[in-house]
Amino acid sequence: MANILCIGAGYVGGPTMAVIAKHCPQHRMVVVDIDADRIAAWQSNHLPIYEPGLDEIVFESRNKNLFFSTEVDRHIAEADIIFVSVNTPTKTFGQGAGKAADLQYWEKTARQILKNSSSSKIVIEKSTLPVRTAEAMERILNFNDKGLYFDVVSNPEFLAEGTAIRDMQNPDRVLIGGRETASGQTAVQTIVDIYAQWVPEERIITTNLWSSELSKLAANAFLAQRISSINALANLCERTEADVTEVAHAIGTDSRIGSKFLQASVGFGGSCFKKDILNLVYLCEHYGLTEVAGYWEQVVKMNQYQKDNFVSKMVTAMFNSVAGKRIAIFGAAFKANTSDIRESPALDVCRALLEERAEVVIVDPHALDNARISLSDVAERVTFEPDPYVAVQDAHAIAILTEWPQFAELDYQAIHKTMIRPAFIFDGRNILDHRKLYQIGFNVYAIGKPPRTHFTS
Ligand code: UDX
Ligand code: UDX
Repeated sequence: MANILCIGAGYVGGPTMAVIAKHCPQHRMVVVDIDADRIAAWQSNHLPIYEPGLDEIVFESRNKNLFFSTEVDRHIAEADIIFVSVNTPTKTFGQGAGKAADLQYWEKTARQILKNSSSSKIVIEKSTLPVRTAEAMERILNFNDKGLYFDVVSNPEFLAEGTAIRDMQNPDRVLIGGRETASGQTAVQTIVDIYAQWVPEERIITTNLWSSELSKLAANAFLAQRISSINALANLCERTEADVTEVAHAIGTDSRIGSKFLQASVGFGGSCFKKDILNLVYLCEHYGLTEVAGYWEQVVKMNQYQKDNFVSKMVTAMFNSVAGKRIAIFGAAFKANTSDIRESPALDVCRALLEERAEVVIVDPHALDNARISLSDVAERVTFEPDPYVAVQDAHAIAILTEWPQFAELDYQAIHKTMIRPAFIFDGRNILDHRKLYQIGFNVYAIGKPPRTHFTS
């Protein structure tokens, strides 16, 4: 039996440890966090994050071989293996502000591990980190006079929110990077053995430390780049009467390109893509690779353009003014099936509409509480409404900003009747039946498609 600790009970730490606990009943898993409210929620029947399948898997193992605690020091002392999944946000100050990763929590955690350890341990980087962070960690951890040795292993997380449990249970691959020393390889094998309890061996990839660290940044950069690429083409479609859905289908059937991640949208959100690409950009700049840095930075710029352009299209379509107009925002979460609103394009669009003095009403099945916190500085100008049919009453427009499938199932005929005419729909996720909406009487604007309007000129 091993004592496995995870520091950081967030979107990554909680679900990851719950899945390991399920498949490794022989091991004891503890998840700790400095945030007492978060830990209390993990211990309650109302978990701090919404993720399909998470409740079942947590309730199955909790208090058997899965524990949540705020006693960080004590559990460090008891642990054999420590996963670290504390947050690594973009730095907001000093050198590299706005791009580099802020590693202060990581470094603080490393020092805390050292302080509370009286035995050697394996420390695993679960958080996304700049390539070569492990080197700094090794130096902090192993520069000690306690006679202790820490193996630092990189095991980046590839789960996507909304499908986290499925992704963990059946991953495309698990990546484990370690030092090419005897001790480093033993540490890697120890982590391989954990995943091998449920992941087929051929899907467990082992690499050197730096490849593993960089692969996580590279994977997110490639995924985000596909979205920015299809969004770039969507803009051209809107000018040329091509339809981006048809273009995506046509190119996606080429097996070399593949069909996934070609959904044009109002832009990507989430805590990872922007942060990790900016981190990559900073690394490239650090190594003097100016052109390489510029290449990746363009992915983020394109995404910002997409969000800004969406708002401009709304304002232009609605006779160049949305001031005083009620606009129903369908979706606050950065994607469907999550309550997470970090970097959500929906909230950027809301803020931009508020700048235009629109009256904003936000609907979301799971993310309203988080949206309310995030928009607390403008709360008096926003209404948070769980019922979409209430939100649309006397609204001039609806903007679909999260791809929740339930938004496609609403009765738009009934909705149209309660709205101010001419009624507009801006489908930032291309999930609705645009032809049908047009027939009902809406003026419909989608991403990468010619608008369908009832105006003759
Ligand atoms: C985080 C990182 O953001 C991401 O880059 C990485 O890939 C995985 O870890 P996530 O789990 O989504 O992702 O972050 P978050 O939900 O913010 O969770 C981090 C947790 O760490 C928070 O609950 C925070 O309270 C905790 N934490 C932070 C500590 O316990 N100790 C600290 O010193 C700092
Ligand atoms: C991402 C990576 O997919 C995951 O491997 C990594 O571990 C963390 O970052 P996540 O941010 O949770 O996961 O969700 P993802 O499904 O990648 O979606 C990110 C954003 O892109 C969402 O806003 C989503 O709506 C958007 N998106 C996705 C598109 O706009 N179009 C697409 O085709 C796919």
